[in-house]
Order: sequence, then structure tokens, then C-alpha cells
Amino acid sequence: MRVHGIPTRTIQALPDRSGVEIIDQTRLPHRYELKRLVTWQEAAEAISVMRVRGAPLIGATAAYGLALASNADTSDAALMAVASGLIETRPTAVNLRWAVERMLARLVPLSPSQRCEVAWAEAAAICEEDVAQNQAIGRHGLELIRAIQQRKGGTVNVMTHCNAGWLATVDWGTAIAPIYAAFDAGIALDVWVSETRPRNQGAALTAWELNQHGVPHTVIADNAAGHLMQKGEVDLIIVGADRVAANGDVANKIGTYLKALAANDNKVPFYVAVPGPTLDFRLHGGAGIPIEQRSASEVSHIAGRGPDGDVVEVQLTPDGSPALNPAFDVTPARLVTGLITERGVCAATPQGLAGLYPEQAR
Ligand code: MRU
Repeated sequence: MRVHGIPTRTIQALPDRSGVEIIDQTRLPHRYELKRLVTWQEAAEAISVMRVRGAPLIGATAAYGLALASNADTSDAALMAVASGLIETRPTAVNLRWAVERMLARLVPLSPSQRCEVAWAEAAAICEEDVAQNQAIGRHGLELIRAIQQRKGGTVNVMTHCNAGWLATVDWGTAIAPIYAAFDAGIALDVWVSETRPRNQGAALTAWELNQHGVPHTVIADNAAGHLMQKGEVDLIIVGADRVAANGDVANKIGTYLKALAANDNKVPFYVAVPGPTLDFRLHGGAGIPIEQRSASEVSHIAGRGPDGDVVEVQLTPDGSPALNPAFDVTPARLVTGLITERGVCAATPQGLAGLYPEQAR
């Protein structure tokens, strides 16, 4: 996608493999800054503090974390220590474990002298595959949006939650890829962007990237979503996922479950866009998905641009009030209309998933 008209990806290896460059997403939407990561510890820190975030981008950054580590030490002991250090950074997005395991499976059988070159190539391959998967999700999701447009005419109103756009992936996004595809195909669209407290990925990131692409959108408070559905203002909801269990249960950003409940009550189609690396066939159901607990300060404080243009953080809650910050929730499969994958759209059921991913379901 483009930033200020320039084609850009969220993570790029430097040509001499001395590091990788990321967009520092903690600075958006008010500052657009690139940051260079040179060590695996810097990659781990970028994932932990959410300079990079979104399940596919977390996986891609972890893969490059192993490549960065291999610049210094390619021994088995070093690879294993780095792998577990990276896996510990964020527990919910299964793409992290998937990427680390894929890198290890590729590197461990090689002699240490071969590993560095292969690590950089494998991390690049993970990124290229992510882009292709997201483009395919976009094509399949476009057909769903087109069908709604042909049925009702006029503007299609799509709601999304958090940021599952290109900032959450290497490029294109998952939930937002169908929106870009539909917009580029000339379908009239308006996107309800749910702000996504406490980290505000909707208000800060989804709104920023839709602006960059010129897609019409409106930011809403999370609590406005049910009301808009009751009023018939939402034709379709598309969200992303951090992990989908074998039965179709979906872990995604906190608040997704409430949207799915309201969608079900109002008969609004609720789709989850999910690439293969986000599927976890080792888990039968969503109850086993680890839910990340983040700092209470993300609830008690909020950052924004002040009148002088500087970004400032302010405290929302009274001194002494504790806060709780579960970062994800699980939406039961029965509330999911369908999963939009790179292989097509399927039911959120064991059969639906096994039909599209027989090799993983086995
Ligand atoms: O905490 P975040 O910002 O990493 O959470 C991101 C989400 O929940 C996304 O919806 C999910 O990772 C899918 S990204 C294509």
C-alpha cells in the first residue's frame, strides 16, 4: 500500500541484511516514523510494546528476529534461546509460534554455516506468502461485498474492529483487504471504524490507513456499534483474527465478541478474515486460547495530540482505581457467518475448515 503516495510495506529487510526497517506503529497516527531493528532483542521489544502488531506482522517480525540473531550466532543453543525469547513476547496470535516453528524447521537441519543466509531467505518468503494470502482474501471478500451491493444497491456499509488492515500484516491486511479490493473495483463503500479501546487501533491505525487510500470511513465509539446495527446502518462486519481453533472459535481483539453478539441479534453478516497461519488445529475449541493480559495503564491512560501538536498522555481514571486489561476475547463459532480465507470462504465449523485445509486438519 502507499504512504503519502509511496509504495510501502510494514517491514522490510535492509539489502545488506544488517537489520530490518519497520513502521513504528506506536507513533501513528500523528507521526509517521520508521525504526531500524538490528538485534533479535529489538525485534522482541518491538512486538511486546506493539511497535509492530497484528497477528501476521507479529509472525513476520519474529521470523526476521531469528534472521537478525543468525547474524551473530547460528548455534543450536542460540537459535533455541532466541526462539523461546520471541515466543514469550505475545501469547495470543498463533502466527508468532507458527513463524518461529517454521524458521526452526528450516534452519535446524542445516549446518550452522548455512543458517544465516537461509534464515533471511525464509523470513522473506514468509513475508511474500503473507502478501499473496492477503490479496487472495481480498479477492474472496470482494465477492461478498459485491453480492451485497448487487442486492441492495447504493453504498455498502462495512463495519470493522481493531486494525486488521495492511498495518497488521506485511501488506494489504486481512479484514481490510476485501474493502480495498471493493473500493478499487469501484464499489461505493463506507466503513464504520470502531475505535477499539483501550489501545485505539481502529481510531489510530485503521482510520489512518483508510485515509491514505482515500476510502470513505467514519470512526465510532465502540459502544455505538450495536445501535448502528439496530438502525440498519451496517450491511456487513469483517474482522480479523489472532487465532482460530479447529472448531471455528475465533480469538480477536477485545470487543469482537460483543460485536458478534449484536450482529447475531440484528441479522448482520459477521465474517472473520483469516489466513492459514492464523489457524490452530492443535486446539479443538476457543477455551484453550491464551488471552494476553496487558498493562492496566493502557486502560487508565490515553495518548493524543495536544493543541501545540505534541503527543501527550493523560490519566482517565481516578488515582487508586484498579483497571483490568484483557487484550483479546473469543467469539464462539456459532456467531460467525463465515471465514474468509486465502483458499475461499468457509463455514466456521470443523468440517468447513477441514474442507479448505485438509493437510493441517489431519
Ligand atoms: O493487539 P493487536 O493490535 O496486535 O491486535 C490485533 C488484532 O486483534 C487483529 O484483529 C488481528 O491480529 C488480525 S490482524 C490481520
